[in-house]
Amino acid sequence: MANCGDLLRAAADPLVVDLGYGATPVTTIELRARLAAVRPDVRVIGLEIDPARVAAAAAATDPPWLEFRRGGFELAGHRPVLVRALNVLRQYDESEVPAAWRTMTGALASGGLLVEGTCDELGRLASWVTLDATGPRWLTLAARLGTLPRPATLAERLPKALIHHNVPGTGVHALLAALDGAWQAAAAYAAFGARQRWLRSVAALRESGWPVLDRPARWRLGEVTIAWPAVAP
Ligand SMILES: C[S@@+](CC[C@H](N)C(=O)[O-])C[C@H]1O[C@@H](n2cnc3c(N)ncnc32)[C@H](O)[C@@H]1O
Repeated sequence: MANCGDLLRAAADPLVVDLGYGATPVTTIELRARLAAVRPDVRVIGLEIDPARVAAAAAATDPPWLEFRRGGFELAGHRPVLVRALNVLRQYDESEVPAAWRTMTGALASGGLLVEGTCDELGRLASWVTLDATGPRWLTLAARLGTLPRPATLAERLPKALIHHNVPGTGVHALLAALDGAWQAAAAYAAFGARQRWLRSVAALRESGWPVLDRPARWRLGEVTIAWPAVAP
């Protein structure tokens, strides 16, 4: 959510929803702590469709800063400036993604953003789509570089909208192939560490014409963000 900082700082009502937080509210608690560094008066609401999970999170409630309620894609009537839905749509059929996206983005505050994606259990591989009221705007790939075998590994954790489209002839397949090729070509940089190798790889990706939207400060963290039209199925 790094590129959502300006939005959160400027929000009239700094309300954020973590949709589908899961069996324990630990990631929602962490999200609130991280966002409070950007906007100290941020309020985070964890929404869950499973009432047992809402009840289980009650002990972590810290109103008005952190609350847990029952809710789904309609966001329970809230109008947040930011929504995170991580590892939620992966459980759904791909055909359900567009409607879920529309329902969530339709509930956002004016100018708000939805971050929807997938990660592995340890959070070492992740990818997410960022959407506004007009639809998907960009795709971000993120990896813990010290444990990344090669960029193509990120294919395992693509967002639901893309994971079934990673076949030759598609944008997302071409992206992963280009990043993987750049990683191979940057093998000599491995001597300086995986971070230097990734930095060189993303720079090469951009030099070859891919619409890379973010800057080296994010690449250093193992991220790269691409304009959505380049990968749209
Ligand atoms: C795999 S867990 C993800 C937990 C957490 N977000 C994470 O990434 O670790 C998915 C959660 O989404 C919830 N869920 C599924 N569909 C939902 C919906 N439409 N609205 C809210 N929560 C939903 C499930 O109950 C489940 O707890």
